[in-house]
Amino acid sequence: MAKLAVAVSGAGSILEAMIAAKVPISLVFADRPCRGLEIAKAANIPTELLPRVFGKDFDRDAYTREVIKILNQHKIDLVAMAGYMTVFAPVMFESYANKIINIHPSLLPSFKGDHAVADALVFGAKVTGTTIHFATAALDDGQIIAQEAVPVMPGDTVETLHERIKQVERRVYPEAIKRLLEV
Ligand code: GRF
Repeated sequence: MAKLAVAVSGAGSILEAMIAAKVPISLVFADRPCRGLEIAKAANIPTELLPRVFGKDFDRDAYTREVIKILNQHKIDLVAMAGYMTVFAPVMFESYANKIINIHPSLLPSFKGDHAVADALVFGAKVTGTTIHFATAALDDGQIIAQEAVPVMPGDTVETLHERIKQVERRVYPEAIKRLLEV
């Protein structure tokens, strides 16, 4: 069966949902210490932490090549980013073409980038949602695998709206990954 790595940088609640849904995970990879890494360790999933530097000294290309080495060492076939916050250099998409997927909290191509939930609120969107897509060198781009709409409610804050979106993400991402892995 294809070997899956999940990449995290934050709370890891979607990773938690994958584990609960019995998605077979061979590696959890993080770019910083985070709760997602702790969740993986508690579930006895192999982990790798490759801390990145922030700011102008960050060598994105060198960092990405180190990540590729780790993925190769673990013989990974598919990478699912789940709240992973480092943008890979283009070399990643040459090595792992069509083998990296991402989940983004908006209906792409609307509201790309790190502030997708806040941007939907500022714009006054009445409907937003989540998108699972193949990752490419362009941020929040690439072929869409699945989408689901989520309503924006009066009085929503970034936190309440993001949590409503995440409730959907915790269901649809495990389902989509299982389809891709054919399990
Ligand atoms: C999700 O909303 C996902 O769409 C975005 O980052 C969030 C991750 O949440 N890319 P968590 O860390 O799994 O709780």
